[in-house]
Amino acid sequence: MEYKLRKAEPKDVSDILRLVKELAKYEEMESQVTLTEKDLLEDGFGETPFYHCIIAETPGENSSDEPSVVGFAMYYFTYDPWVGKQLYLEEFYVMDKCRGLGIGSGILRHLSDLAMKTRCTGMMFVVAENNEPSVQFYKRRGAEDLSQEEGWRLFRFDKDSLVKMATPAEE
Ligand code: ACO
Repeated sequence: MEYKLRKAEPKDVSDILRLVKELAKYEEMESQVTLTEKDLLEDGFGETPFYHCIIAETPGENSSDEPSVVGFAMYYFTYDPWVGKQLYLEEFYVMDKCRGLGIGSGILRHLSDLAMKTRCTGMMFVVAENNEPSVQFYKRRGAEDLSQEEGWRLFRFDKDSLVKMATPAEE
């Protein structure tokens, strides 16, 4: 299938949110998505972008049609004090009708090229334990399962916990 990869632009926020919701639905956690297009616009395209996206699009059915956004990867850079720069793959999704055609592998190739260019020493990501097709997809490409091999556990302070620890707001 013919497809093109490109950097996301502000006009893409509605497609990004649509795909974020589709992935959350696939992971049976759609109700947890509270983000809005406005958040995506402010957070990804302001002076300090908090995320970056690669967009995969296919040509419209007729030559006059707009291309359709069929997949994306959201990523940012993190820093590991033992080995340095890391590319963190936050979200990775290709629409059902376009899976198995090489788009996902193309996105990973693009991100690997970017990681090499920026001298990252690895690409980190989290996969839901029950997402076995993706676990196998990553393992076939050489990914190590750090929870299993090194025993790391994933933690989060939610907003309530942060509010409790933060300096109380002045009356
Ligand atoms: N659906 C999925 N995989 C298929 C299908 C199908 N209908 N048919 C064949 N496959 C096989 C392919 O043969 C290929 O095998 P390989 O690993 O031996 O190459 C592999 O599955 C798919 O390879 P691609 O076509 O390059 O990748 P694709 O475009 O399908 O994208 C992705 C991969 C993103 C994982 C996609 O399957 C997807 O969106 N899955 C559902 C959402 C998901 O699990 N996302 C990852 C969450 S983890 C995270 O976000 C960090």
